[in-house]
Amino acid sequence: MNEQENAPSQDYDVLVIGSGAAGLTLALHLAKRHRVALLSKQRLQDGSTWFAQGGIAAVLDELDSVDAHVADTLDAGAGLCHPDAVRFTVENSRNAIQWLIDEGVDFTREDSGEYHLTKEGGHSHRRIIHSADATGRAVHSTLIEQVRNTPNIDCFEHHIALDLIRQPDANTGRFRCAGCYVYNKTNEQVEVFQGRAVVLATGGASKAYLYTSNPDGASGDGIAMAWRAGCRVANMEFNQFHPTCLYHPKAKSMLITEALRGEGAQLKLPSGQRFMHRFDKREELAPRDIVARAIDHEMKRLGADCLYLDISHKDAQFVREHFPTVYKKCLEYGFDITKEPIPVVPAAHYTCGGVMVDEHGRTDLDQLYAIGETTFTGLHGANRLASNSLLECLVYGRSAALHIEQTIGKVTPPRPALAWDASRVTDSDEDVVISHNWDELRRFMWDFVGIVRTRKRLLRAQHRVKLLQQEIREFYANYRITSDLIELRNLAVVSELIIRSALDRRESRGLHYSLDYQGLRELAMDTILVPENFAGQQQFIEPT
Ligand code: FAD
Ligand code: SIN
Repeated sequence: MNEQENAPSQDYDVLVIGSGAAGLTLALHLAKRHRVALLSKQRLQDGSTWFAQGGIAAVLDELDSVDAHVADTLDAGAGLCHPDAVRFTVENSRNAIQWLIDEGVDFTREDSGEYHLTKEGGHSHRRIIHSADATGRAVHSTLIEQVRNTPNIDCFEHHIALDLIRQPDANTGRFRCAGCYVYNKTNEQVEVFQGRAVVLATGGASKAYLYTSNPDGASGDGIAMAWRAGCRVANMEFNQFHPTCLYHPKAKSMLITEALRGEGAQLKLPSGQRFMHRFDKREELAPRDIVARAIDHEMKRLGADCLYLDISHKDAQFVREHFPTVYKKCLEYGFDITKEPIPVVPAAHYTCGGVMVDEHGRTDLDQLYAIGETTFTGLHGANRLASNSLLECLVYGRSAALHIEQTIGKVTPPRPALAWDASRVTDSDEDVVISHNWDELRRFMWDFVGIVRTRKRLLRAQHRVKLLQQEIREFYANYRITSDLIELRNLAVVSELIIRSALDRRESRGLHYSLDYQGLRELAMDTILVPENFAGQQQFIEPT
């Protein structure tokens, strides 16, 4: 950093980092009265939200109830959900869906005109509202259109947030977040963005694993940035593996929605036999951790490359109408799902842990908020209930916006930040090191920190990640920044946090299954990691 110079900066009321369901919801709620900068490291549509298939869980049917949705969420979460966060989210579910409908989202209806509600694993009622099997695209494209038509929101695509800026705040005597260093991929410069409030809405970290349902950008940037800025993270060991991703050498990240199982699809062994009844009485509709582990177990037992999901016994027209995306995609890969079973494997899907926040999305660092998959709100516990994630984005996106709106008038604008100093770095002539390290990291995370864990494998992964981090630090200090380097640096941080959390948890609970500690501890406790520069305790000392 160049200590002499202040940087020219782009100044806004609120800086939102991430343009998925969480970031867009918050931006739209704030933009009536505040100027918002919306940053996205790729195009606005390039996050997990776009790819969501099944739908959004909400209490919409009169036979359903808040209590039932709460109970299902607590049950899937295996004793670790925070009941107040669960109730808060579920109680706000109907309003959240109504807001989407008001914004123009077109959900699938029955012939009667009522919204069609589907079912997914762990739900005791039909409560998943959806747009056929492309709910994410319907929600995301509608919200993106609204954002593009909102004058108070400026969109900055292909801008990657690198690190948060901390400053002492004379009003509070505490450190606060004052903005962010941002790598502009178009001109390859690092720029400064500042705001009175900064919001991390950067999605999850499933790209830490070799096989994942997530798009490429899911590298845990927000979690890593918040950690470096002194915020606590929690429950990072709970990586959700989706049971059914398409197994095909050319299919990258192709999810087969759980709603297929909700509508009767059966899991089968290569022999054609069903097997889920041996693992759970809810069979194919058991919570995801149970189904993914059962598939993993059977694949290992049989030495099979994949198992099968079969919906060919259902009416072909029903299948084509309800699952047009899955039907078409599978056909492209040579499978007609109305006639034959689909080869499937589990893959990393969702990050249940993340940056610790309260019900307003506030983190440990003043004026820094976090929402969506990047956070730990207490909603998901040890295993997220299907379709509760988009709901969390909508509910916390709104509640963080309300809190910012109520408090921002009292927040002083940040002081100018120091300019980014790139004077001592050169262009790398060894980019192969970065791509090699990406592959190595994701492979050992898959092999050693996957669905079934042991202490020995976790320690092996911990050793590897520390070596990688040393190399990445040297690279970062000496060479010009690239987007691959930024993401690798963040992936290494989140991987280390996942491994540390997994080592700390000496039991098998929800998504964390250890062969060394197969029992359940009596007391359910979150795994909370506290950074050395913990923002919650730091008071700056006014110079005398
Ligand atoms: P995302 O939608 O992932 O958006 C993250 C944003 O942050 C992106 O705009 C990205 O470009 C940006 N970003 C990241 N890092 C940076 C950075 N450093 N600088 C600038 N910008 C950055 N959940 C459900 O509830 N129902 C479903 O049916 C469902 N189906 C799913 C299907 C698939 C295939 C996947 C992958 C997930 C699914 N999920 C589903 C989970 C859900 O989609 C995600 O948890 C949710 O969309 C996350 O939203 P988000 O706004 O937190 O993040
Ligand atoms: C799916 O459609 O199976 C994904 C739902 C989710 O991740 O909640």
